[in-house]
Amino acid sequence: MKRMRNRQTELVNDSGRKRPFGTLTTPICPTVTYVFDSTEQGRKRHTGEDAGFIYTRLGNPTTNELEEKIARMEGGEAAVAFSSGMGAICSTILTFIKAGDHLLADKAMYGGTFDLLHHKLGEFGVEVEVLDFRDLKALEAAIRPETAMVYCETITNPTMKVVDIEAIAAMTHEKAPKALVVIDNTFATPLLYHPLKDGADIVVESGTKYINGHSDVLAGFAVTDKEKAWLIKDHGLKFITGAVMSPQDAYLVIRGIKTMPVRMREHCANAMAVAQFMEGSSLFEKVYYPGLASHPDHEVAKKELSGFGGMIAFEMCSYDVARNLLDNLQVINLAVSLGDVESLIEHPASMTHSTLTNEEMIAAGFNERLIRLSVGIESAEDLIADLEQAARKAHETVKQER
Ligand SMILES: Cc1ncc(COP(=O)(O)O)c(C=O)c1O
Repeated sequence: MKRMRNRQTELVNDSGRKRPFGTLTTPICPTVTYVFDSTEQGRKRHTGEDAGFIYTRLGNPTTNELEEKIARMEGGEAAVAFSSGMGAICSTILTFIKAGDHLLADKAMYGGTFDLLHHKLGEFGVEVEVLDFRDLKALEAAIRPETAMVYCETITNPTMKVVDIEAIAAMTHEKAPKALVVIDNTFATPLLYHPLKDGADIVVESGTKYINGHSDVLAGFAVTDKEKAWLIKDHGLKFITGAVMSPQDAYLVIRGIKTMPVRMREHCANAMAVAQFMEGSSLFEKVYYPGLASHPDHEVAKKELSGFGGMIAFEMCSYDVARNLLDNLQVINLAVSLGDVESLIEHPASMTHSTLTNEEMIAAGFNERLIRLSVGIESAEDLIADLEQAARKAHETVKQER
């Protein structure tokens, strides 16, 4: 029997792939269009009888190599690459959702997706209903036979909730056979979780974060079966959003993926060390990290994930202390985004989720005392020391101001 290669080997080393000129690395093909040998060939490419390239919005050799890689990583038949995570999410939703449809979503999610679902889709006549997907009974009751889509994130942004996707997919397919279960796997990444294997129909994710890992590319993916991937590409991407990834960016993401297994190990180990420190320190009010036994979804996370990831959310005792902590950090960067080798920290209420009203924020499960930390791969000791000194200063400053 053929020996299966270890996943890390597969991601690092593409040996066996035959490329033009025998190049080790992926060639970048910056062409927009492709020359046909004849009118007949051009016609056949447009009917699908000839599988060759037509136009880079529909396919490009560099981007194709990345799409094949992402599909393998997520355990799907096919992937479609986009110029950002929001491009992937928007193109996917608009491919399958139409006026009059019913879409169910968890109440906590990335601010951009929240805006799309809550503030935009309604204008197109889509009924969006949100609830807490932790409450599986309530979710089951809310699924209607005609529900078209059930949407949530593997680990929610910014509240760090981990929901039981296997159970959600099973009950959705039972009660609404035509509904699509769409999962944003950005926080967990395909290295820690495979929503498709647990019954999800489509995975969407930002490749800007852990997949690329270096804050130098915006990227996004939708991963599913071949039929749906083609619909997403042909309708969502080609006609609706045009959110196409450039071949140069595809190359950078392919390069980033080579170090992803090593990076993810460090992110997970560092985040666990930081979360444990915070939980044991009186300087911090509450810590949300799925790897801590105290996390309400720790058991689901243990069942679902092969690692607890690099994201932590924590609360300080007041907004003033939270703001002072952020302003006193010396190593950790005060910046939105996540999944980079550098640690990034931000204040969801005034930054990534600032378009939510106060009521929407409370309903989504967080407040202005919450801070979101993307733990990088620097030394955990340095990160802990930085958080400790900033938290001490923040408490002292606020005490003096009173
Ligand atoms: C969970 C999640 N999904 C999607 C996105 C959007 O990704 P992008 O910034 O690549 O559009 C983000 C961005 O932060 C995110 O956190």
